Parts: sequence; structure tokens; C-alpha cells
Amino acid sequence: MNVFQHVSDIGSLDVALREAFDIKRDRYQFQSLGKNKTALLIFFNNSLRTRLSTQKAALNLGMNVIVLDVNQGAWKLETERGVIMDGDKSEHLLEAIPVMGSYCDIIGVRSFATFENRRDDYEEKILNQFIRYSGRPVFFMESATVHPLQAFADLITIEEYKTKPRPKVVLTWAPHPKALPQAVPNSFAEWMNAADVDFVVTHPEGYELDPQFVGNARVDYDQMHAFEHADFIYAKNWSCPGVTRPEDYGKILSTDRSWTVDARHMAVTDNARFMHCLPVRRNMIVTDDVIESPNSIVIPEAANREISATVVLKRMLEAL
Ligand code: CP
Repeated sequence: MNVFQHVSDIGSLDVALREAFDIKRDRYQFQSLGKNKTALLIFFNNSLRTRLSTQKAALNLGMNVIVLDVNQGAWKLETERGVIMDGDKSEHLLEAIPVMGSYCDIIGVRSFATFENRRDDYEEKILNQFIRYSGRPVFFMESATVHPLQAFADLITIEEYKTKPRPKVVLTWAPHPKALPQAVPNSFAEWMNAADVDFVVTHPEGYELDPQFVGNARVDYDQMHAFEHADFIYAKNWSCPGVTRPEDYGKILSTDRSWTVDARHMAVTDNARFMHCLPVRRNMIVTDDVIESPNSIVIPEAANREISATVVLKRMLEAL
């Protein structure tokens, strides 16, 4: 594997899940694979889970790890070609990327959507420069449009907790005080469409996800109706993807607190498990009682981030 961005990059989901559960049984069995290999993890944005779980995954495989927080201690980077660099940015990404590539064997990058320009975000301008100029395999640690390590961990978690062969999985929008990117719901939709689940998306009108991710998934604007008979509720906020009105890209269109997942919502499900990628704003996205209930699996879901990252790094090491 040379790039990990989309569900198609992992190949067969059955094979990937078997590999994940094998690694979960003994996460140190491939320690020799990463000997004298270095993973460089580059963060343009904050992180708790991705930072820790990906470092742990690299250590599981016997790799060395370097973490760079671009905005804390590195030179400020210019990303646009042709700019006269007479401002506060001291280095251009076009030099920085191959230099970073020269110190490692595999690169992970986190770079969120800026919301300045929908086309730049959806063309993955930053990550594609890493793919093009680093000379190294690149895995996405949440980009402008995707968060595949999260979606893979979510799939592993659903596989572990499902009680029927084809569970009903509902992705629901929920309110948030800040405008958040669409990376998590995009990847979750992409991976659920590829998995053997009955997948439904519910959100207020105007929050339609990009067709390349939501595909032919059922979209229900009636949240309570969507929740009926659900086995998994996956809550997430996202800002307007700008599909129907590009001028609204990145905006907050609704603050309707009736979309906060509470006990009333969970009561119409089939005793559904509650999932969220974390970090989560309590009593905006989900009420205290729901996230603290026995049906909440947000902690094992986060723990599976180590497993998804170990599978991805293992695949990349095997392809070096
Ligand atoms: N879910 C997730 O990616 O968490 P962090 O932003 O803390 O890495």
C-alpha cells in the first residue's frame, strides 16, 4: 500500500478485518517488520487519539517514530506556489516535503479543511503535495475530506459489537457551536457503503454529503424515523458540504438542539450502540446519560484506532 486515503486502498474489507482481529489478539507479532524503519507523523492540526494511537501502532511494529507539530517549533510553511514570500512564512512546502521525506520511510499527515475554498479542500491540495513530492508512502491522519483511520476503526468496532449479520447503522448529524469539517462523516459513509450493513444517513436539509462519499446511501431528513430499529447510532457534526449551494460551504446552517442524541432518540432504536469518533461536546452532540450508558462504545471505538493504524502501517511496511 502506497497511499491510504480511501476504502478502496485497503482492498477486501473481510481480509482487512481478519488482519485487524489477528493483530488485536497479538499486536506485537510483527515487531521485526519495522526494525530500522521510521514513521514521520506530521500534524498541522491538534490531535489526541490519532497522535497517540498511530505512535503506538508504529511502536507495535518495531518502528522508530518522529512527530512534528508544524505550528509549534517548525518554520511557518507557505503552501501556494507563485507567492512572493515576503510575509511570515519562512519555508515553502515544496522544499519542506522532500526534506521531511528524506528522514523517514513512511509519512502520516493531518491537515484539516481550511474552508477558504471548497475546490482546494476537496482536491486535497496539501495531502496530494505530500504524495507527489515526499517520495514516501503517505497515509491520511485526517485530511480536508477524509479520515480513513477513524472509519476503519469504526468498522472494526461495528464488527465486534454487531448482534446480527447485517446491522442497521445510522449516521446522524448533531449540533455543534463551531463549523467542523466533513472528513469523518465522508469516510464513515464511504466505508459503510462498502461494508455489509444497512446504512442510513440523517441530517437537516442543506447538509447533504458529497456524492463521492454518500453514494447511494439512504438519506432521511426525519431523524426519529431514521433511528427506528437502528443497531448502531453514529453521531457527528459537520458543516455545510456545499453540495447544493457551494456558497454555503463550511457554514453552520442549523443549531437545532432537537438533533442532540438523547434517551428519547435511543428509545426508538433496537437497543442501539452509541458511537462517536471523539472528541465530543457533551449535551450538544449527545447527552451525558447516553454517552455514559452501557450502550455507549466510544471508548472501545477509540481503542480500535491503534488496531486500524497497526494494520495500515503493517501493509505499508510490507510494500516498501
Ligand atoms: N477521532 C480523532 O481523530 O481524534 P483526535 O482528533 O483526537 O486525533
